[in-house]
Amino acid sequence: MELRDLGNTCVLGLQWGDEGKGKVVDLLLEHFDVAVRYAGGANAGHTVVAGGQKFALHQLPSGVLRPGVMNIIAAGAVIDPAALLGEIESLRQRGIVVGDGLRISDRAHVVFPHHRREDVVAEKAARPDEKLGTTARGVGPCYTDKVARRWGLRMCDLYHPEYLRQRLAEIIAQRTAYFGAVYESRESFDAAAIAQEYLDMAAQLRPFVCDTSLLLHQLRTQGKRILLEGAQGSLLDVDHGTYPFVTSSSTIGYATGAGIPAAAVKSIVGVVKAYATRVGTGPFPTELTDAVGQTIRSRGGEYGTTTGRPRRCGWFDAVATAYAARIVGPTHLAVMHMDTLSGFEQVKVCVGYRLGERRLNELPADAYTLERIEPVYDTLPGWETDLTNCRKLTDLPASARAYLDYLSERLNVPVAIIGVGPSRAQTIIVTDSE
Ligand code: IMP
Repeated sequence: MELRDLGNTCVLGLQWGDEGKGKVVDLLLEHFDVAVRYAGGANAGHTVVAGGQKFALHQLPSGVLRPGVMNIIAAGAVIDPAALLGEIESLRQRGIVVGDGLRISDRAHVVFPHHRREDVVAEKAARPDEKLGTTARGVGPCYTDKVARRWGLRMCDLYHPEYLRQRLAEIIAQRTAYFGAVYESRESFDAAAIAQEYLDMAAQLRPFVCDTSLLLHQLRTQGKRILLEGAQGSLLDVDHGTYPFVTSSSTIGYATGAGIPAAAVKSIVGVVKAYATRVGTGPFPTELTDAVGQTIRSRGGEYGTTTGRPRRCGWFDAVATAYAARIVGPTHLAVMHMDTLSGFEQVKVCVGYRLGERRLNELPADAYTLERIEPVYDTLPGWETDLTNCRKLTDLPASARAYLDYLSERLNVPVAIIGVGPSRAQTIIVTDSE
């Protein structure tokens, strides 16, 4: 892959999130002028190791760590102003000034305290088998209110004080009555105080708020190179993921979320881990609850960036991931965390499922079936060698290369990027001549 020839590019995860998108985006950004977050909100956690420091970004695009990059949070994302200002401030304390390099869509919906409350009380009230294991950041309830079209407020609404005060008072009265009736939650909210707090925060964010689809159009016209940064993963997509154990946004909907034509995006980098992880609840056919799963978790540092929860770990699921790849159509594959699999004599890849006597070759739609299937594995030779110092394809042991070729064939996407450790340098870029 020649990085400068990618054209406008979208980077998105082909599993259940946490594939290592933050690192891929950070790496590619050297060749881009604009970074765009098009979905999700403070539920996302993108880890980037830059200049020897580890950064966990939630709402801000990863381009904030690259001087000169314009960072856009587009209409498909949701904004928690307090969390966003907190993120900007904590970066400032570490010497990174976001300054003029940020724009926020005036159409993006806003997360309020009652959304965060609903996230918590709805989870608490759910039956154990219905709990979603959300990140409790209020993102789901905010998207719910957006789609309901009765209780949603957008960034542009924060600049009309009288309207905001009145609408928020009505919305909070309705929502708290609902929480009381359905969840028996008696917590009250001071609508006037919240309105004032949001007006103050909106004033701080004012220089950043604009029509970001117009801005993207202008930037494209000027020939600026745009990188769209997916959040969560394809299997958490609200339409195509393992519903209802998904996030609340269209994680693969980069064009709608960003407000640009799909045809303006030339390359799609699908990011996978060399194994699979899932954080929160929901079906996970290849989950390993034994010592192998624990080894992967501790070697890979598999703890949630946003919540710190231990991630569930398992073997690579080539059925679920090929399903995601078919929908998304990646032009390039990034296989991350290859170093984490070092030391296993054998590695397994799920190539089908068994449901009683039946063999399934496609991902079932319903969680009921997904919870009942057994993975069918292919077993491949593992590799003992530490990969963290490998810098080119030929540095990798033959079995690691064979594993990559195998994944590439299963997903029908060429491998372009290989992760062998957390830092920028610990990456192999597969060039066109290889
Ligand atoms: P929510 O997005 O907070 O509503 O959570 C819904 C599901 O998506 C839960 O299983 C979360 O653990 C999962 N989820 C949300 N954001 C991320 C992420 O950035 N990485 C991985 N999983 C996520």
